[in-house]
Order: sequence, then C-alpha cells, then structure tokens
Amino acid sequence: MIKPHGGRLINRYVKTGSVAPLRGLPRVRLSEVALSDLYNIADGTFSPLTGFMRGPELGDVINRNKVNGVPWTIPVVLDADKAAVNGLKKGKSIALEGDDGKVVARMELEDIYTHKKDEYALKVFGTRDRRHPGVNLAYEMKEYLLGGKVHVFRKQDNVKNYLSPLEVRKIITDKGYKSVAGFQTRNVLHRAHEYLQRCALEHVDGLFLQPIIGWKKKGDFTADAIIKAYREFISDYYPGNRVVFGTLKTAMRYAGPKEAVFHAIIRKNFGCTHFIVGRDHAGVGGYYGKYEAHDIFDKIGDVGINILKFKEPLYCKKCDLVVTEKTCGHGPEYHQEISGTLVRKIIKNGHQPKHKIFRPEVYKILLKEFKRKHLFY
Ligand code: ADX
Repeated sequence: MIKPHGGRLINRYVKTGSVAPLRGLPRVRLSEVALSDLYNIADGTFSPLTGFMRGPELGDVINRNKVNGVPWTIPVVLDADKAAVNGLKKGKSIALEGDDGKVVARMELEDIYTHKKDEYALKVFGTRDRRHPGVNLAYEMKEYLLGGKVHVFRKQDNVKNYLSPLEVRKIITDKGYKSVAGFQTRNVLHRAHEYLQRCALEHVDGLFLQPIIGWKKKGDFTADAIIKAYREFISDYYPGNRVVFGTLKTAMRYAGPKEAVFHAIIRKNFGCTHFIVGRDHAGVGGYYGKYEAHDIFDKIGDVGINILKFKEPLYCKKCDLVVTEKTCGHGPEYHQEISGTLVRKIIKNGHQPKHKIFRPEVYKILLKEFKRKHLFY
C-alpha cells in the first residue's frame, strides 16, 4: 500500500472527553470553505497537514511549493476579521465553530498574520484578475489568517457518499488492488472523462472516482446532480468490483497546475498509486495552458504518485470513436471537442447532447435535476 504524503496518515480527531475544557475560550467562526478543510485536515485527506498554515508555512507553499519539506502547492488557511482577532493571543487555544454556532474543534493558535491578498492571488493563481473565481474567493476572505494545530471532536455530518482516506485504504486492501488510479472531477461525467477512466482501467487494478462537492463557482453542476449521475453510470456500465466511488468535500480553487498537484497528493492519501491528469486540469476561462498541469509535475519534484497524463479526448466523426491526437490520424475538421462547458451549454439550450459525447442515461438524470432547477449552482 502506498504511503500517505509525508509518510503517515494524519488523524486530528479526538474524543470529546480528551479535549481541554473549551468553555471561556475565544471563538472563531469558520467559513464554509475553512470548515470543510478542517475536516480534511482531521481525517488525513490533507496529510501531512496537522492544522491551518502559519505565516512561514504559507510562504513556503506559495514561494517554494513545499510544506514540511514535501511538495505542496495550495494554501490551507483560516481567515478571520479584525473583530474576531481582537484579544486573541498567540500560544493560547481558541475554539472553532461552524456556521450553526456549534464548537467543532480546538486550535492551538500559533500565528496571527495579515492576509496579503495580492501576493497570494498572484502566486497561487498567477493572476489578480477578480473574474477568476478562485482569485475572487481569495479576495473575499477576511483580512487576517490564523495558523496552528487543530483538535477536532465533532464529525462532519451529512456528506453524501463520503469515504475517509482510511476507509478507502481498507477497501483497496480488501479488494486486493495493487494499483489504483484516482480521478478528480467537478463535472458530470461525459465521454471524454469516460475515455480517460477506461484507459486508466486498462492499466491499473482499481479506479477511485472522487468528485469534488465543496464550494464551486456559480454555473457549475451541483453536487447532487454529479453524485446521482455517477452512481447511475457506474452501475449501468462499469465492473463493480473495479470501481470505488467517494466524494471529496473541499472547495474548487480553479488554480490549474498548482491544483493538479494538490489533487494528486490528496488521492495519494486515499491510497491511489496513480492519478489522472487530462487537459486544463482544474482550469477555468483560459488562464492556464492546455497542458500546464502536466508540465508542473516535471518541475516540482517527486510527488510520490504516478501521474497518468492524457491528451485531450475528442470525438472523431471519421473514426466514430472518442480518440486523442495520439490515436487518431484525422484532421481537426473531423474532431469535436467534449467538455463540461459544452454539455452545460447544450442542456441550458434545452437540447439533448448526442450520445457519442454524452450517455443518455446520464442526461435523463440531469434533465430531471434541470427541471427542478437543481442542476447548476
Ligand atoms: S476539473 O476542474 O475537475 O479538472 P473536469 O471535471 O472537467 O474538471 O475534469 C476532470 C479531469 O478530466 C481532469 O483531469 C481534466 O483534465 C480531465 N478532462 C476533462 N475534460 C477533458 C477533455 N475533454 N479532455 C481531456 N481531459 C479532460
């Protein structure tokens, strides 16, 4: 079994009884994004992180793509406003609460520092353009950041199809997979995704399909639609004993190449030996090069998971198949792009995507959600 990033799977859950009394501690309320990341720290999804990043750690991440000496590319930070920070002291504990006001964790407050948003945006996203949804989210954060280890004593509730890294690792062991490819997605499944997944399955023992269901930009597919569509598709088409399905509740950052590394590390923590990276992975609106998310892996050093780099699958009218430039000799006049954006557009216009680019079973589910106005955020 592949080792987690940094060598050991982090567990920051503690039993309620073992937490030092929280009464009287200053409280900080977590945003939706920070709350989901608290749980990702707690269950080891973000191993080797044991808490929210301190200033020097954040510096290491955005300047050197490292945390604790291992590759890491995306900040995991906790923001707070001036009023919340007033009266907080480094070296003391604080209580973290969710948006319902319930305390979920204790944090050893090791650092309080200002959120330098311009630098953050430029170094993480390569742009300060607020039309970029990840950049905009960063600018909408509060003006201070708090860093330190967390002790989490409340489990996250009601996350559909959630499997922890430990649970997925157990499934992998029980099924006897020697190799597993992880697949990240924020979209409903189309034929380009299916092509990548099937190619990977030719090569490895198991496939771990793990859509992101945390915060996403307006217009993206809802978590519900993605989950329903995937479950239907898997049961209709894939060999059940070779596919594991679970969700990942974290925000999409749309940080392209840097997020591809982050996504790969997360799947390594879930026990994947391989990770699929296609074209414009985690990209948005042309901010990143088509294969920049492939190239970054050659630059930042060994992440400890095999990256399966795929060229863009296209539908070829002449081959009458989904192909890539590596497998098809026909010119661009025969090729039709397949993308989540295209599928969104077709459905919004009230049409059914052609079955060559989209499975009718999946479309049926989406149509139902569309009619209930539950298809898009
Ligand atoms: S992402 O933001 O999660 O990357 P998406 O769900 O569309 O978006 O993609 C999931 C994975 O499939 C990524 O690795 C992406 O690069 C790849 N991918 C998506 N669509 C295509 C496509 N048409 N051609 C190649 N790769 C694709």
